[in-house]
Amino acid sequence: MSSDVKSVPPSPSVHQVSPPSSGESPIGIKLPIYMDNHATTPTDARVLEEMLPYFTEKFGNASSRSHRFGWEAEKAVDLARERLAKLIGATAKEIIFTSGATESDNLAIKGVAEMYRDRGNHIITVVTEHRAVLDSAKRVERCGYRVTYLPVASDGLIDLEALKQAIGPQTVLVSVMAANNEIGVLQPMAEIGKLCRERSVLFHSDLVQAVGKMPVDVNKMNLDLASISAHKLYGPKGVGALYVRQGVKLEALIDGGGHENGMRSGTLNVPGIVGLGKASAIAAEEMPQEACRLAGLRNRLREKIMARLDQVYINGSMEQRLPGNLNLSFAHVDGEPLLMALTDVAVSSGSACTSARREPSYVLKALGVSDDLCLSSIRFGLGRFNTEAEVDYVADRVVEAVERLRELSPAA
Ligand SMILES: Cc1ncc(COP(=O)(O)O)c(C=O)c1O
Repeated sequence: MSSDVKSVPPSPSVHQVSPPSSGESPIGIKLPIYMDNHATTPTDARVLEEMLPYFTEKFGNASSRSHRFGWEAEKAVDLARERLAKLIGATAKEIIFTSGATESDNLAIKGVAEMYRDRGNHIITVVTEHRAVLDSAKRVERCGYRVTYLPVASDGLIDLEALKQAIGPQTVLVSVMAANNEIGVLQPMAEIGKLCRERSVLFHSDLVQAVGKMPVDVNKMNLDLASISAHKLYGPKGVGALYVRQGVKLEALIDGGGHENGMRSGTLNVPGIVGLGKASAIAAEEMPQEACRLAGLRNRLREKIMARLDQVYINGSMEQRLPGNLNLSFAHVDGEPLLMALTDVAVSSGSACTSARREPSYVLKALGVSDDLCLSSIRFGLGRFNTEAEVDYVADRVVEAVERLRELSPAA
């Protein structure tokens, strides 16, 4: 493994080592193929179309109360709030718009920690959470909180008994993501929520990868707080939301004009919010068929690769998993040349590059995956615009590349 990688992208990083060949493949597929939909999704044309007027003729500030421009913007924001609320089983009043899920995760954890300091000083989360949750937890730890980081089993799932044991009289918040961004593993949300409710502990979830991909109901899950990001559900970047159950209080991170019930000041990003609303409406309509189609494509990809290659390992539970996610490790293959061989395919690897070397993904490590297998892993993130022909093309390229690299590998 070479150790001279200079860039510092977040984990897992997208690899297109040499410029992708742009154009059509011999079998008529447009290249490069995007199969990294956990990192971001393209904005759906229907979403963009609905957003565009809010940059130009409908440019009003949603807080302007004295003229039509303001009223028009406010009305659009209200509709978006309703659409998103409907998608997750909430009410419009419970939606706070933010700049994205990083902010939502920060607001939930730091906002609760500060608001409920008198109630206790203990937070519980999980080792496989997104950095936005883990680093927010670390921050409140430095401010006097105790944080329990629950481990996961080899399938990526937490042990409910361990959670039960960890909750104590000082626990104010449990934060567990619904779907993991690397391995797509789904935690038992309803059971976790029930436990939290029984013990009067607030329950937050990073729903970023779940919303729009699987049914989400904040009441069935007993959620008190939930983070959402538009660009993971075919909406624009730089806009998200925090669901805050009615009655739950938060200390704001951003003070100012008192927008969003004083929980998040700042002029609303009206076009972005309109986009998030439209993306939510489309997801509510199309999710059942889309989830089914994606699970079919994902299974096809897995079968095509695993039928032709041995010593390929699936990372994370196959049963409790997002339909569009596949995370595979290839024994006796170095991850870096593998990704270099896949120049026409945008996927992610189970490593993060530091200035000195490639670090194995902390998520895969938490499952007990060896460093070598972490570094040889690929995350395939299938999305709305992927086709069966693309899946077949990607499977062929992966098989060819792994076979070639194994021929060269002394360990194979
Ligand atoms: C699980 C999860 N949480 C949070 C985020 C951050 O979201 P945003 O890009 O909206 O800040 C991401 C995106 O990478 C994610 O996958």
